[in-house]
Amino acid sequence: MITRKLGAHGPDVSAQGLGCMGMSEFYGPGDEAQNIATLERALELGITFWDTSDAYGPHTNEELLGRVLQGRRDKVFLATKFGIVRDPNNAAARGVSGRPEYVRQAVEGSLRRLKTDYIDLYYQHRVDREVPIEETVGAMAKLVEEGKVRHLGLSEASAASIARAAKVHPITALQSEYSLWTRDPETTGTLAACREHGIAFVAYSPLGRGFLTGAITKPDDFAEDDYRRHNPRFTGENFTKNLALVEKVKKFAADKGCTPGQLALAWVLSRGPDIVPIPGTKRVKYLEENAGAMDVKLSESELAEIDAVFPPNAAVGDRYQANMMGSINA
Ligand SMILES: NC(=O)c1ccc[n+]([C@@H]2O[C@H](COP(=O)([O-])OP(=O)(O)OC[C@H]3O[C@@H](n4cnc5c(N)ncnc54)[C@H](OP(=O)(O)O)[C@@H]3O)[C@@H](O)[C@H]2O)c1
Repeated sequence: MITRKLGAHGPDVSAQGLGCMGMSEFYGPGDEAQNIATLERALELGITFWDTSDAYGPHTNEELLGRVLQGRRDKVFLATKFGIVRDPNNAAARGVSGRPEYVRQAVEGSLRRLKTDYIDLYYQHRVDREVPIEETVGAMAKLVEEGKVRHLGLSEASAASIARAAKVHPITALQSEYSLWTRDPETTGTLAACREHGIAFVAYSPLGRGFLTGAITKPDDFAEDDYRRHNPRFTGENFTKNLALVEKVKKFAADKGCTPGQLALAWVLSRGPDIVPIPGTKRVKYLEENAGAMDVKLSESELAEIDAVFPPNAAVGDRYQANMMGSINA
């Protein structure tokens, strides 16, 4: 397995991780046997940097991983998150908490569901604008002292928050959306802040929530409860305009001899040795295809061509709906 070092403070992990979120929520119906087969295959392939959160399900995604990891916890570098507060009885309800007492309550829940006594990488899922990040990271640092957590991470934190957090405790990884159609970290300063502080950049939704694979051709492809029905990039005219961009990716990939999804992942990998994409899938077939992206190399001239075909900011529509935009880059 090709590996990458997880920032200045972390270990080597598989150069591509596995996003487990869609196994439990957001991207259509899941299936326990299919999920388990995918996780087993990831282990066989050496894709052992797994990503979950207490918010996914809510809670059931961690339980799934807990079941699969029984007896082989040491095979996986396990990342989970806290801070998006959800109510299992009300799927739409969302809050953000970075209060120190909440951090402690959350970690105990995650450890129980994951059936483990340590978490390799513990992220604050969203920065709480009401709680100074020093207080939240201070509480997270205590978990490291106690051996419950090995490394600290942040998700969708701004450059300023990253700098403040890094003064309290070394931060191993920042997780934010990054892909051909979401290049914000290049301009918001977050990627630069990571590099300044020796923090790995973990790219989530590197396949544009599936759109960049070319497999999604009409909004009706989604199940009724699929989150993407509400995401601005997947709705109305935006969908059609973004599809035209993906058509160009498809053509480029065909000429290159890879799939569009592999091209999208190879592009993320090409952006620096400190970047680790975590494509999500619940299917063995996609997992295997995505793993193949680690062998796709893009030359400088091909990268320039991709920039011309899919320029930064070319995608139409915000990456989240309005009520969720406020919690990103906080
Ligand atoms: N920190 C955060 O706030 C945050 C936010 C979002 C996601 N994440 C993490 O990042 C991970 C990855 O992001 P993501 O799942 O949102 O988006 P993604 O990896 O860009 O795309 C996932 C979607 O692409 C589909 N797909 C995957 N490989 C494919 C292939 N080879 N061909 C066709 N379709 C393919 C999947 O289908 P199937 O579902 O059918 O397999 C799924 O619908 C998540 O699982 C989660 O762990 C974190």
